[in-house]
Amino acid sequence: MENQVKIEKRISPFKKTITVSSDKSISIRCILLSSIAIGKSKLFNVLNSEDIENTLQTIKKIGVNYKKKKEYLEIDGVGINGFKIKNKTILNAGNSGTLARCILGLCSATKYKIKLVGDKSLSKRDFSRVINPLNSFGVIIKSKKDMLPLEMTGSQLLRPIKYYENKGSAQIKTCIILSAINTPGVTKIKAAKSRTHTELLLKSFNYPITVKKTKKFDFISIKGLNQFSSFDYKIPGDISSASFFIVLTLLSKNSQLIIKDININPSRMGIFKILNKMNAKIKIINKRNYKGEKLGDIKVESTKYLKSINCPASLNSSAIDEFLLIFLVAAKSHGISKFKNLGELNKKESPRLDIAIKFLKMIGIKVDRDNDNIKITGSPNIKLKNSYHIRNFLKDHRVFMMSVVAALTLGGKFKINDKDAVNTSFPNFLRILSKLGAKIN
Ligand code: S3P
Repeated sequence: MENQVKIEKRISPFKKTITVSSDKSISIRCILLSSIAIGKSKLFNVLNSEDIENTLQTIKKIGVNYKKKKEYLEIDGVGINGFKIKNKTILNAGNSGTLARCILGLCSATKYKIKLVGDKSLSKRDFSRVINPLNSFGVIIKSKKDMLPLEMTGSQLLRPIKYYENKGSAQIKTCIILSAINTPGVTKIKAAKSRTHTELLLKSFNYPITVKKTKKFDFISIKGLNQFSSFDYKIPGDISSASFFIVLTLLSKNSQLIIKDININPSRMGIFKILNKMNAKIKIINKRNYKGEKLGDIKVESTKYLKSINCPASLNSSAIDEFLLIFLVAAKSHGISKFKNLGELNKKESPRLDIAIKFLKMIGIKVDRDNDNIKITGSPNIKLKNSYHIRNFLKDHRVFMMSVVAALTLGGKFKINDKDAVNTSFPNFLRILSKLGAKIN
């Protein structure tokens, strides 16, 4: 099969320095925010992937021009309330939940109808999470069972809201912040902890947003209708993409890797905290700041003795895209690892909690499930001998990449479908693996 990879050999020891793809969350946010800035923004090192291409096509359809220059992406911002939207415009978010949720907030003031569609995976995901707050702003949304396709009519009489975001979802939080920018007055959000890139970007433009932090919540106030100027931004590497290589190195023999120029925003560093508790040899070097974000290089080494973890649920949101990998580490650790309240994992590009459990059981790992809580009994000397076929029916990029890491570190013979899925977030994934010496057909 053309779109399938075959892996029949574990990766040999490697010692290298790499960079990974640019941060997807920050790339999408920079494009959306520069589209409402006044003037031309220059975005350097933007992720080159399908989710980003869909973001660019989407802003073009609402009247924002961009140019791909050699060194940067130039976005010609139209200012707040400057979009030119034709009635019944169809926007296609493809596979991207972030784009789909955020574009609704960004366009909340349109007086015309927008239809939002997505691919098969996105069309199975929940939109009630953004429909409810947008309704409170005065936006009208029609959909079947709160899923795509949906039709939105914005409002020119938006009213500010007070909203309690209790899922720890940055997509919901960002949708509300973007709609608040279109709204006169002050919108207030009590938000369970989630990634903070939107707030940090807005602060870096001196936009009137304040954030008061407590242990569990961020209390955010946003004043609407404050025009801001275009900006330059250099997008750092994505910790979620780096994580595949972190876990590859940990579970390989006698290897060492430095991954350069990664965004290490604490709201994304759950994987690092969890792996540290599991005894992983991983550290951050060369820490620095960039426009309110923290950056660093990650140094990781093969770790023979990994131990189980009783993972605090408070770390879930900051590791939300990394659990497939964390479960793999738990499968090779000493002892029983416990994870709680992971229902949100089943709301991703595919039902990742269900898929992870199926995967682990398939390779002979004991997993006990009680609703959204799981226990994984580690098998530190695991050496696979059988053949496995990963079908990945919803073409989930992270399921594909996790399966490749498993195949390269645990043995066995793997066939893994849908290698094109990497184009969503990390088109260079397989090329970097070959540079490290991985044999993939
Ligand atoms: C993202 C937030 C997370 C994450 C997704 C990207 C973002 O989703 O899973 O891959 O860029 O805001 P939730 O905010 O829904 O948890």
